[in-house]
Order: sequence, then C-alpha cells, then structure tokens
Amino acid sequence: MKKVLAAVLAIAMTFTLAACSGGGSSTPTTAAPAATTAAAAAAETTAAAPAADSGAKTVGIAMPTKSLERWNRDGDYLKAQFEAAGYQAQLKYSDNDSNQQNNDIQAMIADGVSVLIIAAIDGEALTQTLADAKDAGIPVIAYDRLIMNTDAVSYYVSFDNYTVGVLQGEFVKKTLDLDNAAGPFNIEFTAGDPADNNAGYFFNGAFDTLKPYIDSGKLVVPSGKTTFEQVATPNWSTDTALENMQNTLASYYSDGTVLDIALCSNDSTALGVAQAITSDYAGSNKPIVTGQDGDIANLRNIVDEIQTMTVYKNVSDEAGVTLEVAKALLEGKSPDASLLDSLSADAAYDTSSYDNGTGIIPSYLLVPWTVTKDNLQDLVDTGLYKWDANNQYLESAT
Ligand code: BGC
Repeated sequence: MKKVLAAVLAIAMTFTLAACSGGGSSTPTTAAPAATTAAAAAAETTAAAPAADSGAKTVGIAMPTKSLERWNRDGDYLKAQFEAAGYQAQLKYSDNDSNQQNNDIQAMIADGVSVLIIAAIDGEALTQTLADAKDAGIPVIAYDRLIMNTDAVSYYVSFDNYTVGVLQGEFVKKTLDLDNAAGPFNIEFTAGDPADNNAGYFFNGAFDTLKPYIDSGKLVVPSGKTTFEQVATPNWSTDTALENMQNTLASYYSDGTVLDIALCSNDSTALGVAQAITSDYAGSNKPIVTGQDGDIANLRNIVDEIQTMTVYKNVSDEAGVTLEVAKALLEGKSPDASLLDSLSADAAYDTSSYDNGTGIIPSYLLVPWTVTKDNLQDLVDTGLYKWDANNQYLESAT
C-alpha cells in the first residue's frame, strides 16, 4: 500500500514539475529532451503514457517511418516535449504506407486525441481522414510536410524547404567558384519522393540556383536528366538512389567522363549515391555530394570525405515550435506572428508561400544551415550530438 502511495506521489510530482516546465514560454533550442529513450525509439507504436492526470489532453503524433533516422528523432522529441509540458502522447509510425497512416490516424481520432500532428507519407492521400478529424473538432498541424487538398489543416510547421535546396546549390557554386572557374563541370541530380510535397521545393531551390550555370554551359548534365520527374526517388529510398546512380554511371561515365557533382536532396539518397560512386565510379576525383538532415551515417561519410555537406535542420527545435503552436490551439487561440516572440528557435511566420489547394496554410518556418567537415562541432554545440570516444565521428547525444 505504502509502495503504491509512493508511486502515485512520484507520478503526481513528475506531472507537477512537467506542467511547470511546460508553462514557460520559451522553446528549448538546444537541450536534449529528458525523456528520450532507446526503448521508445525501438517501438514502432508507442502507447499513450499512463495517465498522470485523467484531465491531461492527448496529442496524436503520426510519423512516416522508422526506417529513416530523422523521423525517429522527430517522434522522440515531439513525444518527450509534449509529455514534459503535461500532455499525454500517442506516437505512431506507419511504415511509409499511406493506407496504414490513414488507419493509424483514424484510430487516434477514435481515441479522442485533442490535436493531431502529422508528417504525411503521401501529402495527397489524407483528405478523407482529415475530414473526419475536422468533423470531430480535432485541429491538425502539418508537420514538416504540407498536407494537400484538405481544409482541415490549421497550421504548417517546417523549415524553409526552398532554402534547403538553395543552400545545396550555393555550396556547389562556392566550392567550385562557378563565377570565376573555367569549367565545364559535370553534375547529376537526385531528388526525393514525388508524394512528399517538400521534394519539389528542395529540387527547385537547388536547380534554380544552378540553372544560370547550366544555361551558360559551365555546368553540364551528361545524363540529360534535368527535371524533377526524371530524378525523383520514390520513398526517398537509399537503395533506389544507389541503383539509379549506378545506372547513370554505367551509361554516361564509363568512358572516363568526370563526375564533379552529385546534387542529392537529402541524406538517405546521398547515402545510396555515395555508395554507387565508391563502388562504380572510375574517376580519381572526389565528386561533391550534397545532402540534408545530418543523419549519423552521413556525418560519418562527411568525415570520411565520401559526402561533402549536409543541410542541417534542428528537429528538436521543430518539435518545440510545434508544441507552442499546439498549446496555443488547445487554449483556443489562433497563433500568428506574435508567437515568434515566445520561441527561442529562429523561425519566420509565413502567410504566402504554402497553398495546399484549399488556400494558404499559415506556416512557421525554421532556418536550415550548412554543415561540412569544418563545422561539425556546431552540431555538438546543439546538445543533440557528441564526439565518439576517438573524437573522430559524431554520435547521437540523445
Ligand atoms: C524531410 C527531409 C527528409 C525527407 C525524407 C522530407 O520531407 O523534410 O528532412 O530527408 O523527407 O525523410
């Protein structure tokens, strides 16, 4: 009996502390969330936390897949930060299967969650399910990826997606000194999943930045593949990116043609492309390979000079901004630009860029930045990464 009472008291205290810390107005920028555990990361679906207070509201979090590192981080950070703020959380991963994601979200609607946070697998495939959420009075925040063709989405929280691509293009421009070097340089593009609304923004940001040099002949695309459709990678699959790059190398580079740049939209595709270059590229130069996310395997490749850069997006901050937007919604407010004052992460409030087919979705857009071999310590300084025992590669600190 005593034990039970002690446990109840401990839970109540944890809840009070968590509620207090969640009451502050600032979003943690760098601190690692306390409640992130390997066990939580291992479970495909994490059930709601035991009720610390039967009145606690539950947030439904739908993430695409556990197979890519970043979504594990997003799910963990979101769950931990919402729980620390006194909410319960249901976290579901849907194995990159949009039917399953519809079912998972339907289950959370049936469970009566108070708000839904969704990183869509297929931005076009949730319309009916979200109509049900709307009927049930559940607000929806589109997380990282915009959800199309539904008026049920209240807000969009993401990074400036176009800028991600611009940073990749600018990196190439600067590294090769495109304005002054004679060239020409050979480039190949690898883009993301056509079902992901972000993928076109990333590709366009990079392509628009480099297009003047393609037009002038300083950059040449030996494969001729210059449209998003030609270079898209379904599911952002590493294996598909690997195969595509192997085919490109076999068809256009086996005669000794030099590959200078492999412009990859993100780290999962960069992983496959870098592997193809390592195994199948005959040239002696090291092509520039771009990426996005800062996945551990890619950071390792950056140290080993198999990948050259990644565009980093601090997804702990993304979770923090999402928490603030959700809190405001649950308090019956309509967050606007003034919410930015309460955020410690750098973000912009955007009411013009993201139209999901039913109108503009007000957006909070965080700021991505470039990581190379030379500034890996900046990642450590976020508190989310640490050096390994040999001070050589980065590991996750959370
Ligand atoms: C995210 C990227 C990620 C990609 C694949 C995109 O929607 O914005 O950060 O690399 O999905 O998971």
